[in-house]
Amino acid sequence: MAKCVNKENMVLPSLKEARLRRNFKTETIKYSVIDKYAHLGDGKSYYIYTYGCQGNEADSEIMAGILESIGYKKAIDPLEADLVLLNTCAVRENAEQRIWGVLGQLKGRKRNHPDMIIGICGCMPQEENATQKLIESYPFVDLIFGTHNRGNLPKLIYQAYFTKEKAVEVLSTEGNILEGAPKVRDNKFKAWVHIMYGCDEFCTYCIVPYTRGRERSRAKEDILAEVNELVKEGYKEITLLGQNVNAYGKDLGNDYTFGDLLRDIDKTGIERVRFTSPHPRDMDENAISAMAECKSVMPHLHFPVQSGNDRVLKIMNRKYTREEYLYKIKRLKEEIPGISITTDIIVGYPGETREEFNDTLTLVEEAGFEGAFTFIYSKREGTPAAKMEDPISDSEKHKWFDELKKAVDKGYLRGTERFVGEVVEVLVDGESKSDLGMMSGYSKHNKLTHFKSNDKSLIGKIVKVKVKEAKSWFMIGDLVE
Ligand code: 5AD
Ligand code: SF4
Repeated sequence: MAKCVNKENMVLPSLKEARLRRNFKTETIKYSVIDKYAHLGDGKSYYIYTYGCQGNEADSEIMAGILESIGYKKAIDPLEADLVLLNTCAVRENAEQRIWGVLGQLKGRKRNHPDMIIGICGCMPQEENATQKLIESYPFVDLIFGTHNRGNLPKLIYQAYFTKEKAVEVLSTEGNILEGAPKVRDNKFKAWVHIMYGCDEFCTYCIVPYTRGRERSRAKEDILAEVNELVKEGYKEITLLGQNVNAYGKDLGNDYTFGDLLRDIDKTGIERVRFTSPHPRDMDENAISAMAECKSVMPHLHFPVQSGNDRVLKIMNRKYTREEYLYKIKRLKEEIPGISITTDIIVGYPGETREEFNDTLTLVEEAGFEGAFTFIYSKREGTPAAKMEDPISDSEKHKWFDELKKAVDKGYLRGTERFVGEVVEVLVDGESKSDLGMMSGYSKHNKLTHFKSNDKSLIGKIVKVKVKEAKSWFMIGDLVE
């Protein structure tokens, strides 16, 4: 196991080490807590701030589970919590800026509450520069631990309470799999289920393969046991999580693939299955046919493309061409008629030209995306793209970004208008945030849908709604008896 230890004997990350993919077997670690830590949190409260992707939300549920298992209770007011954790994101610079800002606020809080423990975890501590900055300039932070270390949370808290030393543990290893940790799920009918961790793709702009380690799949037995348990508890929808979900199983050395997993999950009786995010190169015919055959798999796919230009795709190390991507879209639309497809797009990649950006604009039309997360390229130190020439000005990139948003917005509206007059099935989340007297939830195609009702007993149920109005970001309809 590679460790980088500084002179104070703190285990620190190294991007160079994190880049390595050694040929070692992933270990599955069964979570357990020793007696010494079992009552660490008795009479104390915790609060977790979560930033970034769904993977972090799922990780926060595990950390909450671990904290509650050692006696902590969730604080109603974060300002009053005895333990505050920031579960961070490093994917783009603005995500990090927000976290430095929150740390500034916490510093003030700690002045009035000196026994409060502040911890930083998630992707940011996996970056060596961020960890150095935390150690040098944020002395009030007590715990710094990386994505691979959350199973050690009780030990780290113990260290912070009883040695009063900063507990830093951020390994540069490719990571293991933690099984059996308790979870406090935020939602009573929709659940996250990790099927794999890490990423081996090394897209040249992306920090994730360094912060999350190598691709490692959970055993199918563990995944199916978790889904069966969720069905028993009355959960209606699961979202399968991974940086590259359809690489599922590649590291396990058998022929069982993502498509096979979808088929087995379908048999558990769970009503709705979603997943995020697949890599276009790994979207194979078996996965497409499983999506088509399994009633539980929802007809919506988030399918990150990043760019519509072949040269840019190549220097991004995406390993597919525009034509290959469009072919997969064609196959998906043939097999799953009416499927809604959304995507991720990066604008202003180093060296991207106006003509190359135009290819992304035309792809948005051609692919018929019904939504997209659009990002201006953000330089991440340690990634290959950070060293590339980037001659396009920020203002030019913002202009392109606005153009792209307009093209994408048209797709959003097209994606809701096609349901006007139709009856859709909605899993009810709760009262609509924007309009009193309305309830809302998501349709099978993942469209936010509002309908007139104040019957709270519908929350967590699937109801039929006849759509009468379409807006870009939502649909409005009436309950159908
Ligand atoms: N700059 C901008 N966007 C990025 N993403 C990942 N890394 C970067 C970066 N350096 C985007 C990609 C990815 C999504 C999760 O975040 O579009 O699909
Ligand atoms: Fe990052 Fe590419 Fe892996 Fe996605 S597939 S997490 S963009 S390296």
